[in-house]
Amino acid sequence: MASVLGLAACGGGGGGTATGSQAPAASSGGKQQVEVFSWWTGPGEADGLKAMRKIFEEQNPNYTFFDAAVAGGSGDKAKALLQSKLQANTPPDTFQGHAGAELQGYIKAGNLEDLTALYDELKLKDVFPAQLVEQISVEGKIYSVPVNIHRSNVLWFNPAVLKEAGVAAAPKTIEEFLAALEKVKAKGKIPLSIGSEWTVTHLMESVLLGTLGADAYNALFKPGADWNSAQVGAALTNFAKIMEYAGDPQDDWQPAAKQVADGQAAFNVMGDWAYGYFHNPPEGGLGKKSKTDFDWAPAPGTEGTYLWLSDSFTLPKGAKNRDGALAWLKVAASKEGQDAFNPMKGSIPARKDADQSLYTDYLADALKDWSGDKLAGSIQHGVAVNQPWLAAINEAVGLYIGSKDVKALQQGLADAATANAQ
Ligand code: GAL
Repeated sequence: MASVLGLAACGGGGGGTATGSQAPAASSGGKQQVEVFSWWTGPGEADGLKAMRKIFEEQNPNYTFFDAAVAGGSGDKAKALLQSKLQANTPPDTFQGHAGAELQGYIKAGNLEDLTALYDELKLKDVFPAQLVEQISVEGKIYSVPVNIHRSNVLWFNPAVLKEAGVAAAPKTIEEFLAALEKVKAKGKIPLSIGSEWTVTHLMESVLLGTLGADAYNALFKPGADWNSAQVGAALTNFAKIMEYAGDPQDDWQPAAKQVADGQAAFNVMGDWAYGYFHNPPEGGLGKKSKTDFDWAPAPGTEGTYLWLSDSFTLPKGAKNRDGALAWLKVAASKEGQDAFNPMKGSIPARKDADQSLYTDYLADALKDWSGDKLAGSIQHGVAVNQPWLAAINEAVGLYIGSKDVKALQQGLADAATANAQ
């Protein structure tokens, strides 16, 4: 605890920079509560949180973990509630935020304490990739603790459904993908499963990347990028063609992924949190057999690029239990915490020194690709665009789902970029 207090003393905030008065932390049974805010309530993803919580509780008998998770994949509901809590100066003690533009938004809004002292104390700059630290820093100050790296551009598929449809291998290009979707359709199965609206934006980012390639995709987020170009138009036409094969929208990403695991659907484009859901034992996951019940490949056209995102935890200004939050951040930053969390979450650790033997099956592929692939930032999961920009993109995609008007979608995305590009 001395080191934690040391952090406060050396200017990490200590409430001095807090935006509001700090009510005492709630306590239960004499223990102080630490309110941890995330959106990991659903099957699969909650398992990762549970595993890290266990370590936190073992190491911190004086604190009670209070799970303030708000349901809804990709945090669509959680982030709206969080915004109102931040505005009302009643933040949770720590909250989940994506590295990149999303986190930069919280930093610029003055919501977060600087964690540089914690980084120095735990020598964290040595264990996290420098590019990742850059994504969570402003003017040399570091504002969150990344727990993982997720991959967005994964094509999940059911091998038996592909076989039945005469699709010999996972499609590598968009053309091959369209041909495979058509073959599955002819067999009467759902060619492509989709979930709630955000999963459609998630699909769109992989199709943009798969059509444009990593360099042109990354250029879309630079000032002055041309979203009205013919290339973006071609990518969106591909997206529209693929969407013609989508099944009925499911409530969230889990039921859409489940259609693949159950053999009702052939394909689903989803982040690798789906791996945790497919693979984890039945209490939290589906307990499915890798390579038999489900298999994976890079989303068509995206091989060699890791469309990445990273979940990180923060210390909001005005946290009621600041010391408790720091204790959580220490577990989240630790090798032990990350090696408990990630194999269940379906992600690879943000730390470079994790125990590689724990990452088998899909996760071994992910570790290998992460070390060699080009990088592109996810749109839906906070890397490439900030929250207002994402909201405008989601709105354009939402309108597209109703209208199927590709030109209007492109114009909507171009307007979103003009209004929000930094
Ligand atoms: C992402 C998040 C992942 C996973 C996913 C589905 O935004 O980074 O950890 O939870 O949403 O909910």
